[in-house]
Amino acid sequence: MIYRSAVVLSIGFAASFSSFAGVGEGQVLYDGFCQICHGGTGEGQTMGKSLTDNNASRLSDAELIDVITAGRSGTGMVAWGSSFSEQEILDVASYVRVLQGGTGLAEVDENAGVSDDPAALAGEQLFSGSAGCISCHSYRDQGGNVGPNLDGLSARLDNNQLIQALVNPSQSIVSGYEVKVVEQNDGTFIRGRFRNDSELAVQIQSNDGRRWVTYFKDRVNSVTDSTESVMPDVYATLGALEQEQLLAFLKSL
Ligand code: HEC
Ligand code: HEC
Repeated sequence: MIYRSAVVLSIGFAASFSSFAGVGEGQVLYDGFCQICHGGTGEGQTMGKSLTDNNASRLSDAELIDVITAGRSGTGMVAWGSSFSEQEILDVASYVRVLQGGTGLAEVDENAGVSDDPAALAGEQLFSGSAGCISCHSYRDQGGNVGPNLDGLSARLDNNQLIQALVNPSQSIVSGYEVKVVEQNDGTFIRGRFRNDSELAVQIQSNDGRRWVTYFKDRVNSVTDSTESVMPDVYATLGALEQEQLLAFLKSL
């Protein structure tokens, strides 16, 4: 796919290349409608934020398609769903992935299946099975939402950063995944990712990631910051071969 995208990029007109799965007319649409605010390479402009920073790279495919389709109310990001066809939305979303260093949307990327590398395949089994990563992390729109979506991981973390994230999750907690601890009146503790922290209340994500539970500050003993990630040190407990397989899988994302 990198090769094909490069062909589309260098030739410039996508119309006759729309049969290329993934980007299609994405670049032409992007240059015509998006670059004025987001910049020619997605670097961002005064009117529109960067599309290649961590926040944008961590959007799942579904979230990326959603923000382009529905816009963000109250910001310069309008909804494109009424002026673009479904295919055009997919094409431009794929092109955003190319700007982010990826190869297109996972779901329309014909190379999306994990590579045929046996180590990566074994790693995927571990990820979705005994290592339990899938309960917190999604890739290709399957999995949990307690931790970040891992699509495009290899484009945003180099080898060292990846190992650091696995071996020592608390060392560099991904922004938006910081943790708070609530001490309830009965002395028990609830810890987890939080949102809507105000003087009155804070919401903590339930362990299964499905709900945000509200704690009123005047009804609990205390609410404090934690420097410990929600992510357990599972990786360190795996054998050398399993670690290698898991890494091979993560690098294929
Ligand atoms: C008039 C300026 C403008 C145009 C044109 C525009 N955007 Fe945006 N876009 C924005 C702004 C501003 C934001 C930030 C919204 C916010 O604060 O959440 C944004 C946000 C986004 C995001 C979410 C990024 C993130 O980190 O969450 C994506 C993806 C995006 N735009 C893609 C596009 C695409 C694709 C097009 C063309 C079809 C486009 N935008 C056209 C202004 C624009
Ligand atoms: C209980 C939930 C949970 C489990 C289980 C879990 N993680 Fe995480 N993971 C998180 C959270 C939350 C973060 C973000 C906070 C941080 O950076 O530590 C994270 C961060 C990461 C990151 C960094 C992502 C980025 O975008 O920078 C990677 C890579 C990762 N996890 C891989 C794994 C792997 C591989 C497994 C299985 C061995 C796993 N995680 C198991 C919750 C979890």
